[in-house]
Amino acid sequence: MEFFLDTADVDEIREIAAWGILDGVTTNPSLIKKSGRDFKQVVAEIASICDGPISAEVTAMDTAGMIEQGRALKADLPPNVIIKIPCTPEGLAATKVLTADGTDTNVTLIFSAAQALMAAKAGATYVSPFIGRIDDTGHDGMNLIAEIMDTWANYPSITTKVLAASIRHPTHVLQCITLGAHTATMPAKTFRQLMKHPLTDRGLEGFMRDWEEVEKAGNA
Ligand code: G3P
Repeated sequence: MEFFLDTADVDEIREIAAWGILDGVTTNPSLIKKSGRDFKQVVAEIASICDGPISAEVTAMDTAGMIEQGRALKADLPPNVIIKIPCTPEGLAATKVLTADGTDTNVTLIFSAAQALMAAKAGATYVSPFIGRIDDTGHDGMNLIAEIMDTWANYPSITTKVLAASIRHPTHVLQCITLGAHTATMPAKTFRQLMKHPLTDRGLEGFMRDWEEVEKAGNA
């Protein structure tokens, strides 16, 4: 499974990239706003830290505008930048054209299996169903991932990857792994929580204490 960071904070990206297992980064206009940085500058810096796919989102609402922005981003930014497009009729049409250009895309704001399937038919490289935002409405976002994975199982020719997004906690990630989602994009906090285990910390403390004794005894 691919692990992506969902942030435009380059310090967080450097921290997690240093672990050696970061597969990509997703950004969106809200994350760019939070970074306080210039859009293209920060995406270019992210693309230099992580060589996996870096999602940069178009903001035009019409197909022609999305295609123009997508092509400009591809021209101006490093080759590992992929184009994030909202799941609207205009976005589907833009996805089809950018895919024909040879550009990888991530169709975002997906809240139903039908939307995911239509984005796949348009040629999307990734589809991004939002788990946490469904949970926020009182429904179970994980059902959407299950439904999409069932749909994909019925149509093995689909090559679009399911990128579980709007992840809020490690359990979301573990459930996505169980369901076979291809990719999970998560905040740095969730990445850290996934790695942390009190028994690892306690075990390591014990080993280090005992090793000091081995050194003191001159047996190291
Ligand atoms: O990148 C899109 C998605 O992951 C947004 O997450 O937490 O704003 O619902 P969130």
